[in-house]
Amino acid sequence: MMENRIKKIAILASGAGSNAKNLILDSRNDFNTVYKVELVITNNKNAGVINVCHHLGIPCFLWKKESFVNPEFLINFLKNNNIDYIILAGFLLKISNKIIENFPNKIINIHPSLLPKYGGSGMYGNKVHEAVINNKEKESGISIHFVNENYDEGEIICQKKIELSQEETIDSLLKKIHALEHSEFPHTLRQLFIG
Ligand code: GRF
Repeated sequence: MMENRIKKIAILASGAGSNAKNLILDSRNDFNTVYKVELVITNNKNAGVINVCHHLGIPCFLWKKESFVNPEFLINFLKNNNIDYIILAGFLLKISNKIIENFPNKIINIHPSLLPKYGGSGMYGNKVHEAVINNKEKESGISIHFVNENYDEGEIICQKKIELSQEETIDSLLKKIHALEHSEFPHTLRQLFIG
């Protein structure tokens, strides 16, 4: 039987939270009957995403790194909140096998490069864009993928490309990538959730 209940989303984020904000706003759109952002979890007490949630009235929980290493409590918390999907939007801690086993094919990450290029441990934020520019790449992009036990290695759901200009800087590339993420991430998630 087709299940068309609105999917309940938990976002995990460690940084500024522009993608989290974008998804929260998208999920509040009157026409969005596909998913709803229920809550946000961060591991970083200085993360901008805390303010984002405060302004948008979304519950935001600050959890210690230890809670992700030994995640029984976290898993129970997510299950008790009937979370269907976990979205990583700039979340820097490793997702342990226990969490993956409890949410098979239900954890999705967005990465700011064309994986498998510029992925893996230590490849995040500006480090990715810096490496892309230093290697004189002609294109970069974003990858939206399922999370497995290795950083940035799960099955790819969607990739989108952009071209780099001759004068590209880390900052200009970051802006292009963010714009691409903001337009593509909600769309890709909706498609996935509809099935
Ligand atoms: C994004 O570029 C995302 O691809 C990566 O981390 C960044 C998070 O940015 N995983 P923001 O915190 O959503 O602004």
